[in-house]
Amino acid sequence: MTANSSVSSRNHQLILLIFASPAAIVARVTNLRIRAVEAGDLIPVDLPAPRPDVDGARWRRTRVAVADGQIVGIASVALSAATDSYFCEVEVVPGHRRRGIGTQLYAAVHRLTDPRFPVLARAMDSFPLRRRFAEALGCSVVTRCPAPWIDPPTPAAESWATGQQAPAGYRTTVIGDRPLAIVKDAWASSFAWVHRAFGAVHIDRIPQMWDQYSKGVDPAASAVAVDRNQTIVAFSLVSPDAWDGRTFIVAETAHPDQAHGTQVLGATVATSVTVLARRGTRRVQLEGHTTDRHTPDVMRSLPAVGSDPMDILRLEPPPAVSRGGCR
Ligand SMILES: CC(C)(COP(=O)(O)OP(=O)(O)OC[C@H]1O[C@@H](n2cnc3c(N)ncnc32)[C@H](O)[C@@H]1OP(=O)(O)O)[C@@H](O)C(=O)NCCC(=O)NCCS
Repeated sequence: MTANSSVSSRNHQLILLIFASPAAIVARVTNLRIRAVEAGDLIPVDLPAPRPDVDGARWRRTRVAVADGQIVGIASVALSAATDSYFCEVEVVPGHRRRGIGTQLYAAVHRLTDPRFPVLARAMDSFPLRRRFAEALGCSVVTRCPAPWIDPPTPAAESWATGQQAPAGYRTTVIGDRPLAIVKDAWASSFAWVHRAFGAVHIDRIPQMWDQYSKGVDPAASAVAVDRNQTIVAFSLVSPDAWDGRTFIVAETAHPDQAHGTQVLGATVATSVTVLARRGTRRVQLEGHTTDRHTPDVMRSLPAVGSDPMDILRLEPPPAVSRGGCR
């Protein structure tokens, strides 16, 4: 079965209490229906707006849970832009939680996926329910990002930035007035090996991802490290005020075996941090996959004032829900 051929438009009349313990039976919803989004559906304000189903490389399906004629939950599963894996989102309105609706929604969208590809979910510490829910479904951790944040205008951050020196033969520079595209190849190279843990990577789709991602990147604060040949070996891409008032820095080396990788990466990030300090930018979160072995070292060295660790979790298929737990 391919992702496209797995599309189902049928509605699922739910058999109740499949996953319920006897004690929880009274709380379960008895007239729940899971179906595709229909024109004219009224989505409660506490749920995300449903995104339309799409085919092709950006394949996505959305299902809603309807109880007493009201939409009370929504779930979507979408193929990752460049890897053979899905990302899943489930949300239930607060008044209907803990009645099995989230679990039923997950089962409904999971049925639409190609079973060869893993279904992934993000779980940040700042959203503890996600983790509890994922643990109940059954999951394993694919990658972990400590996501520390710093306050660049503080003496501790400035002193850290000053201490990060590029090794001999390398220099760092902000991208500045040059086209942001100068970093595209290095980013694409890094993306390909960093994301292998999520599923097969489609190299041909990476440029499209770059076009999307780079729209939010600020070249005046983003930095690269170059070697003697002027080849870009590391980057620090700054997305100002990306989410929740946080500025994100995505920093990686272009290749996994980069010589002096930690030092090069630290100096590149420091170049961005220096610009952000001058601007008075607070709450700057360092993103980056710990599949790049240099990133954790740089993260550990930061004078962090907080963190929002995020795991990428591989969710187990629905029949495993009763097993639960996160390995
Ligand atoms: C996470 C969420 C979707 C769960 O929806 P739900 O309908 O309450 O989920 P279920 O009733 O199917 O819960 C299944 C299991 O998850 C775990 N769980 C769910 N909410 C929990 C909570 N608040 N505390 C602890 N465990 C929880 C429990 O083990 C639960 O089983 P139980 O009720 O028999 O103990 C819902 O809380 C929500 O919308 N949260 C905000 C958005 C979000 O974080 N979405 C997850 C993105 S993937």
